[in-house]
Order: sequence, then C-alpha cells, then structure tokens
Amino acid sequence: MTPPLLLTDRPRRNRKSSAVRSLVCETTLTPNDLIAPHFIVAGKNVRSPIKSLPGIYRLSIDLLLGQAELLLEAGIRALALFPVIDPALKDPEGCEALNPSGLLQEATRSLKKRFPELCLIADVALDAYTTHGHDGLVDESGEVLNDETVNRLCQMALIQAESGIDIVAPSDMMDGRVGAIRGALDERGFQQTSILAYTAKYASAFYGPYRDALGSHPSGDKKGYQMDPANSREAEREVALDMSEGADILMVKPALPYLDVIAKIRPLTPLPIAAYQVSGEYAMLMAAAQNGWLDSKRALLESLLCIKRAGADMVFSYGALEVARALC
Ligand code: PBG
Repeated sequence: MTPPLLLTDRPRRNRKSSAVRSLVCETTLTPNDLIAPHFIVAGKNVRSPIKSLPGIYRLSIDLLLGQAELLLEAGIRALALFPVIDPALKDPEGCEALNPSGLLQEATRSLKKRFPELCLIADVALDAYTTHGHDGLVDESGEVLNDETVNRLCQMALIQAESGIDIVAPSDMMDGRVGAIRGALDERGFQQTSILAYTAKYASAFYGPYRDALGSHPSGDKKGYQMDPANSREAEREVALDMSEGADILMVKPALPYLDVIAKIRPLTPLPIAAYQVSGEYAMLMAAAQNGWLDSKRALLESLLCIKRAGADMVFSYGALEVARALC
C-alpha cells in the first residue's frame, strides 16, 4: 500500500463534492449577464438562415417578436439589434441610417410596444448602410473621415433614441464619438439613453460571419480605425477617453482571444465591462459541434463563463438563448 503523502495543502478537498465546489465557485453565469444579438430583415414571416452562423437566422419583425418572447422566457432581457439593409437602400453615405421609419426603428417600436421590459441595444456605425461597408464616411482616397463621421453618428444615435433604443452602442471607433453622442442626446432630452462604447474594438478576422449576415464586407480593411490585435496598452488609452467622454459601459471585442485585454482594463475602471463573443468565435464552436468534435452547449457555457472570469460583467453571444436555457 502507498503511504499517504504528508501534504498540508490538498486543493482537491475544495473540489470533493458538488456542494463544496459550488461554495468555492468564484464566477457565476446567469441569463442576466447575457445579451442576444439579432439580425432583422424586411418583410413578413422571413426566417433566412446564415450559412456561416449555424442556428442563427435573419428574422422579419413579426418573427422577431416571437423570438423575444422565447428570450424572455429563458430569462434574457437584453437584445442587440442589427438591421440587414436591402442593398438597394445602401449608398456611400449610409443615408438610410437616418430614416426615422427604417428597419431598425420599426423593429424597436414593435418590440417596445409588445415588451416594454426589454432592454434594446443598437450599433451606432454606418457599415450596415454603406455600399463600401465601412463604418464611416469615406473620401476620394478611401480614407474614413473622422469628424464628419462623428457628426453623422450623432444624428444616427438620436434617431435610435427617438425610436426607443435604451442603449446606443457606437461600434465605429472614431475618435471623440462618445462625447459627441452624449452631447447630442442630452441636448435633445435623451439624458436617460445610455452609451455602451465599443472601447477596445479590434480589426479582427473573427467578424466574417457577421459581415456575411449583413452583406457588409468592406472594400479594403478597417485597420485605420479599429485597433491592432497586437496592442493592449492602447486599450488603456481608449478606456480613459471613453470614461472621460461619458460612456456608461465599456466593451472589449472580440472576447475569447482578448481575455487579457478584459483583465487588464478591469482594475482601471469602475464602469461595467461588456465583452462580445463575436460571430467568428461562435461559428468556430458550432462548426466543431456540427462535426461532433465539441459539445456546443458545454463549450458555449465554458467560454462565456471564462469571459466573465476575465472581468466582464455582461456578454454578447449568438449562443445566448441556448446558454440561458441550459442555465435554467
Ligand atoms: C459594425 C460591427 C461589426 C460587428 C459588430 N458591429 C463588424 C465590423 O466592425 O466590421 C461584429 C460582430 C460580430 O462579428 O459578431 N461596426
């Protein structure tokens, strides 16, 4: 018989039963932490699959209402809305973004009417609306213009706030946009409209399936405004700016390859931190699951828990409904 080792520390004692494990558990994930992104499309009774996002559909507003009901039943109360704009309505300046009866605004009004308790979040960026797929206005040389874009984004945020969006989420990475949007909202009486700033948003390869969903693949890349994946000190600078400009929530995006960034900024701000498990992260998990190589539910739960462990308070995930149901 092996004699027992003389150990004072036996960490396994804290793992010896489910009851003990739950007492020492440091991080929890609940449906309250989840934000479900959804793609909206014009028409009625439309449910159009997105090949690179298994299980996710572009939904017309009537079907989105049914989907919201399912989310609420599972305990999810926050939705991020992304309109899929008809290519015929796109132009180089993204004018459709300022249409008060545009798809996003109509969806917002319908959802709010039926489910006033929902928290609705909308992206403030022009990419869904422009023919070139960039988040801002582009000059003849292809440069994305900062200040002109910010001006446009302020108008866009106002239209969203007027339609009933609770949280506007500038995802464009222009300089100074958080302060400018805060000013524009306040001036028009929207002091209660929150700003979730995409603070550290990286020029990432993981946005591919999202761009498939919207038909918004940009001409060229977004490296002139989104952050370089090589950098994390730069995220500290963006945090300081967004805080000083009046952001309510800061976001890191993508999530899993950038956990170090979440952990790094956690002690630098008292503000809540959001993380976006982006389309490519979700697609990788689902592709492996479809091959029988991963259990999608367990892999999703673990990824989202780890994103919270790194320091995020809330997570955007295409798997939000599946996860919330698993947590119930
Ligand atoms: C738009 C925007 C993007 C995403 C959210 N808002 C794409 C991009 O910046 O090109 C990506 C979300 C995802 O991949 O799930 N600015």
